[in-house]
Amino acid sequence: MKNVIVDLEVLSEASTEACETVKVTEASSTGKSRKLYIESYGCQMNFSDSEIVASILHKEGFDTTADLAQADVVFLNTCSIREKAEQTVRNRLQQIQSYKKRKPELLVGVLGCMAERLKTKLLEEEKIVDLVAGPDAYRDLPKLVAQVDDGEKAVNTFLSREETYGDITPVRLDSNGVTAFISIMRGCDNMCSFCVVPYTRGRERSRDPHSIAAEAKDLFEKGFREVTLLGQNVDSYKWSEAENNKARLEKNGSHHVVTFANLLEMVANVHPDLRIRFSTSHPKDITDEVLLTMAAHDNICKYIHLPVQSGNTRILELMNRGYTREWYLQKINRIRELLGPQCAISSDMIAGFCSETEAEHEDTLTLMDAVQYDYAYMFIYSERPGTPAAKKYADDISTEIKTRRLEEIIQKQRDHSLKRNQQDVGTVQRVLIEGDSRRSSTHWQGRTSANRVAVFPKNEVANKGGYVNVFIESCTAGTLIGRIAE
Ligand code: SAH
Ligand code: SF4
Ligand code: F3S
Repeated sequence: MKNVIVDLEVLSEASTEACETVKVTEASSTGKSRKLYIESYGCQMNFSDSEIVASILHKEGFDTTADLAQADVVFLNTCSIREKAEQTVRNRLQQIQSYKKRKPELLVGVLGCMAERLKTKLLEEEKIVDLVAGPDAYRDLPKLVAQVDDGEKAVNTFLSREETYGDITPVRLDSNGVTAFISIMRGCDNMCSFCVVPYTRGRERSRDPHSIAAEAKDLFEKGFREVTLLGQNVDSYKWSEAENNKARLEKNGSHHVVTFANLLEMVANVHPDLRIRFSTSHPKDITDEVLLTMAAHDNICKYIHLPVQSGNTRILELMNRGYTREWYLQKINRIRELLGPQCAISSDMIAGFCSETEAEHEDTLTLMDAVQYDYAYMFIYSERPGTPAAKKYADDISTEIKTRRLEEIIQKQRDHSLKRNQQDVGTVQRVLIEGDSRRSSTHWQGRTSANRVAVFPKNEVANKGGYVNVFIESCTAGTLIGRIAE
């Protein structure tokens, strides 16, 4: 679910939480008067939701602004995944207090997962907050804002079984004009014992595939060249005409069930020059059909984010992940078999889950050796109130031990990332140019199919949004360095 570039040189607990960094919206103008400022925290799903929120309020005459000082309405779209994510938001609310002192009519809203988790408690705990809206309540925002305008506090944390915002065209915020995210489903039914998402996002539901393909086509026509299909567990995507659209069913008489593999194919067929990525895959649900669809389409990127969480079967069972160490390793073998060694694989790892012994932690390290991940997001376990783990197991590993174990995991990943990048040195890679390199405007930056960042000097012919073949000359653990090949 994350697609944030983190230089491995600076990889630490702080930077792996880059998925909890802020993205400020860029300005867009409807020529009307009220100004909305949104900050997003957490996973890409939240960033994608902020684009839906902007779209809903755009219709009501709100312009977005990237300058908090100009704003009439401030929304923080929040994350609850770890304690630290929530603390970051609370600190930010403190800072926003000074703006509200200067401009008492400033409306402050908290959206997203923290809003859902804390509901009205947020109003009691954070006096500055006027509005609380959960992830399924965004259509109600115009009404909630009006309620605050009338002098009341406003809350909607209703979780829906149907809402997918499928008909809303997101206003692309902070966009490079080349890559975009498309939400294909919402919620999660998995109940991993450590995870707060099923409580903050509700039941799993899939979005109409026709609206997904239409959104991809529209993006392509606007010049975008890569879409990432988003869901907490994309492999359990399932949509059936029969359940969802009786009218269409009567028209074409099909009882067709659309699986994730079918959806991938539909989006891949939008245009051969449109690249497709997806996240997150769950090891227990990714099928051969998905892997074969990836193999059959050049424009489906050869990269799978397949979080393992732990390399030990007992811990995986406590986590309720639904697979064993051996089963996971077999899945990795299957990926290698069907997609070859070049297919990149990344993971999420949690250090110091309840009752994890030293030997069980070692199992995570040896699993990493066996897989050789290209990339990983690594965290220390953070107990979340109300989750099965919080109810059933003691959070009994000290912060010191958790941190040391995390450091060992990070160190190993750094070695593996470097090793995997080195395998590309001396090869030619097809790269989609995303824009200027962060360090120099004389260089482009883009990604390979395997999601590796490549940096190379510009030439006169290539353009942002174009594909180039790049000869890879050298690398670091985080970046490939090369030149455009003839
Ligand atoms: N749906 C995705 C991602 C969920 S959240 C998946 O199933 O993989 C992203 C990552 O945050 C998780 O993969 C997990 O590694 C981490 N995470 C979730 N809850 C956590 C917790 N309580 N403490 C530490 N890390 C956690
Ligand atoms: Fe959380 Fe598990 Fe669902 Fe991922 S699959 S969101 S970790 S419950
Ligand atoms: Fe995403 Fe954080 Fe919610 S990771 S789903 S924003 S708890």
